[in-house]
Amino acid sequence: MSPASRILVREETLDPSFVPPKLVRRETELALLFRRFRESLGKGLPHPLLLTGGIGSGKTALVRRLADDLERGGRLRDLPVRPTYVNCWRRASDRTVMLDLLRSVGVSLPDRGYGLSEMLDVFEQGVRRSPAHHLILLDEAAALVKQGTKLVYLLSRSREVELGSISLVLVAAEDLLPYLDAASRSSFGVTRRLALAPYDRDAIEAILAYRSELALRPGSVAPEILGQIARIVGRGGDARFALELLANAAHAAEEAGEGEIGAEHVRRGKGSLLPTVSENQLESLSTNQLGVLLALSRSLKGKRSTVPSQRLRANHAALLEELGGPAMSRTTFWRTLKELERDGLVSLESAGSGESSQVAMDELPASFLATLLEERLGVARSGKG
Ligand SMILES: Nc1ncnc2c1ncn2[C@@H]1O[C@H](COP(=O)(O)OP(=O)(O)OP(=O)(O)O)[C@@H](O)[C@H]1O
Ligand SMILES: [Mg+2]
Repeated sequence: MSPASRILVREETLDPSFVPPKLVRRETELALLFRRFRESLGKGLPHPLLLTGGIGSGKTALVRRLADDLERGGRLRDLPVRPTYVNCWRRASDRTVMLDLLRSVGVSLPDRGYGLSEMLDVFEQGVRRSPAHHLILLDEAAALVKQGTKLVYLLSRSREVELGSISLVLVAAEDLLPYLDAASRSSFGVTRRLALAPYDRDAIEAILAYRSELALRPGSVAPEILGQIARIVGRGGDARFALELLANAAHAAEEAGEGEIGAEHVRRGKGSLLPTVSENQLESLSTNQLGVLLALSRSLKGKRSTVPSQRLRANHAALLEELGGPAMSRTTFWRTLKELERDGLVSLESAGSGESSQVAMDELPASFLATLLEERLGVARSGKG
């Protein structure tokens, strides 16, 4: 690959461990939390927080950004803010989490022979030696909480006021309150909970645009392509999936020696992440459906991620002529498109009246699908776009 066609010029910024400097479309939440924490800590009070939100809704990114910002925000009541991040998914026991916390205050204990309360005493000694506002971020906390943790109770009740404070931040995809004991639950009152709404399509597009700016060579991805990825991500609003699609598409483009990501690269990149159309599924399609799908994949072989339905209908009519079949009425054409949409093979986007909708097929590279369908229909291969 020549350096000129490099697209992923800063690929490391798409790594899951990279915390982006800005969180687009979460500015309000970030500012709100930053203010609440500064207010509490400034009074010498801990600020517990329960942060929930769907998969890929930016929970981890948000708490890491917040912790960083608070740490850099300077001393409060003459004490620094010191965050410790623990992912509980792999350390789903109080003791293993506690060992991580001990390490964060510079104490290392053998992982045997100490009970939880002894460990907590040692932790408090450690805290006392380096007074600070301790921010303990327990990510993926559901694993811990669901097996009846005592640590949450103990940490959320810690009263190290004159030596600083311990603020416990729980992060989970689901609401954890039902799993907590009454005393712990009371520390997570309404101002100490935040549920992130899922990203809508527009937000996913904005996130993709920002992250492309960080990771990709300028001009290597057009807004239409980001729109295509956001369409594939759909309602779940999973930003991680969106970024994976972007990275895969960029790789596919680089492998093809092209300097710009095209709609076909996105389709190809998607194939390695999600199961796509199987030949079986194609076998179950009617001749009408196969024909419309073939016209669609031929129309999408070029650069475009979608084709206007009117143009598709014209291309389809030309195809039928080529095949020597009878013409198809407008109603049948639409019904067939709708059937393909229901089967998850195409997506239709109406921009008002039916005739102006855009038709997309993101399941397979269009050129590959066209070849499959041509074989199935016994049509001579055509290079027509
Ligand atoms: N608002 C945003 N701006 C920029 N990047 C974002 C934003 N939200 C999320 N991301 C990126 O999307 C990816 C997924 O986000 P994150 O890991 O924070 O989600 P999560 O809610 O913790 O998901 P999970 O439930 O699977 O743990 C990360 O790479 C993150 O940097
Ligand atoms: Mg996470």
